[in-house]
Amino acid sequence: MGRSLIVLLGPPGSGKGTHGRRWAEEHGCLYVATGDLLREAIRHGTALGVQAQTYVARGELVPDEVMAQLIEEMLQKADRCVVLDGYPRTLVQAATLEGLAHRLGWQVAMVLLLDVGEQELIERLSARRVCPNCQAIYNLLSAPPRQDERCDVCGAALVQRDDDRPEVVLHRLAVYREQTQPVADYYARRGMLVTVNASGTPEEVYARLRQVTAR
Ligand code: AP5
Ligand code: MG
Repeated sequence: MGRSLIVLLGPPGSGKGTHGRRWAEEHGCLYVATGDLLREAIRHGTALGVQAQTYVARGELVPDEVMAQLIEEMLQKADRCVVLDGYPRTLVQAATLEGLAHRLGWQVAMVLLLDVGEQELIERLSARRVCPNCQAIYNLLSAPPRQDERCDVCGAALVQRDDDRPEVVLHRLAVYREQTQPVADYYARRGMLVTVNASGTPEEVYARLRQVTAR
């Protein structure tokens, strides 16, 4: 699977992080989530973080040029297959990825769309907690930590993401519909899109994901 990319598409809360990380570990790939990279940059106050901060807080997309630079650096450094969660999110980004992949010798091996209805997404996001230290993902309803609001992996106190406030969640869903749904359509037209029903329990969803990627 050398220089191959597995692209994960899906609305906020569809399980890209939950399943992407697990799939990458099981297949010996790197897991790269643009949202995690941006949040980390914001926390550390880097130049990227300063550029991205207001967009992320409002649930808007960070400008395409900023994201292009981030992805280019990642593709230059990565030394094995990559599960890419959160990029591309606009048609411009899809074109950028194609150009960079071609130039740097990568191939988009699969594009997976996690499909879930909006009501379920809103419920999931309102109960999500994340580890600010190791990025593990929890849910107070469907995937609670063993010990009250502490990370099972590293013990840090869990937090709620700033952009999981209800008004920001609704905006993120609208941004997805307007800007990212066309990316799914673009890959579908090219016969590259595999849609996975991502409602149901996390175990059920992961089993479906495994099945479609085993083909
Ligand atoms: P990003 O971090 O990518 O956020 P997102 O796309 O909105 O997706 P989420 O992380 O909210 O959801 P997820 O699909 O990972 O779901 P999860 O597994 O956590 O992006 C954040 C921001 O960064 C953007 O708004 C933008 O500002 C910026 N950004 C990032 N990439 C960009 C780009 N390319 N261009 C421009 N800007 C960019 O699961 C959600 C919850 O549900 C969890 O609590 C989980 O435990 C639970 N859960 C998961 N599966 C199930 C299940 N089957 N049943 C019940 N609960 C479940
Ligand atoms: Mg995520």
